[in-house]
Amino acid sequence: MRKIIIAGNWKMYKTSFEAVELVNELKRTLGDMSEVDVVVCPPFTALVEVKDVISESNIGLGAQNIYWEEFGAFTGEVSAPMLTAIGVQYVIIGHSERRQFFGETDATVNKKIKAALKHALIPIVCVGEVLAEREAGKTFAVIEKQLEGSLAGFTAEEIENVVLAYEPVWAIGTGKTATPVQAQEVHKFIRDWLTKKFDAAIANKVRIQYGGSVKPENTAELIGQPDIDGALVGGASLKSETFSQIVKNCLALK
Ligand code: 13P
Repeated sequence: MRKIIIAGNWKMYKTSFEAVELVNELKRTLGDMSEVDVVVCPPFTALVEVKDVISESNIGLGAQNIYWEEFGAFTGEVSAPMLTAIGVQYVIIGHSERRQFFGETDATVNKKIKAALKHALIPIVCVGEVLAEREAGKTFAVIEKQLEGSLAGFTAEEIENVVLAYEPVWAIGTGKTATPVQAQEVHKFIRDWLTKKFDAAIANKVRIQYGGSVKPENTAELIGQPDIDGALVGGASLKSETFSQIVKNCLALK
């Protein structure tokens, strides 16, 4: 049985002061939650202060990006050991906004996953098609290419520690959610790909989140699908009421 994982991707929102306010509220509503894995991913500047608030709770901490080298002359970058040193446990890798605006490719995503795993950070690896690709009937081909490139060269043991996130780009921040049927069919495709590349036991263990306009009202129908194991939440993770409600709506599932 895969444990549901709900992660809030705060993107470039919340100063450290605002982040502490939000996470204090989340600690009140979700701090004891053990049935669902709950993770918050604030901007780098708020990680330390958020960690201070949640250190005695069940809420996990994630970053939104890393660089693959451990240290060096790479102005503006942050490494895996720098994150683990302050208690970060997860890192989002290959988000479509990073692919779109910051030139990330499957090759750089692959290096970042490698660096994360080396330092025992759990990577949340994002894949997803843009609208034109979906309309051209290329969704599965795009996802397969991203999986092949991003996950190239890893062993089964390594893949077990990866969380995947299917985020159709056309559903991010648009209010347009994939229907449960659309989402489930891609999640099933990803799980079948994992079976083909590794084996059924590994494919059964890997958690695959859905992301794209997840809100309290659509949580149950999405995460109720057999191959959807949680959500990567953007906008709705910025308010404690909506994020807490998304998590609570998972309790009756699976
Ligand atoms: P929204 O939930 O705002 O659509 O964002 C989804 C996302 O990109 C999470 O990583």
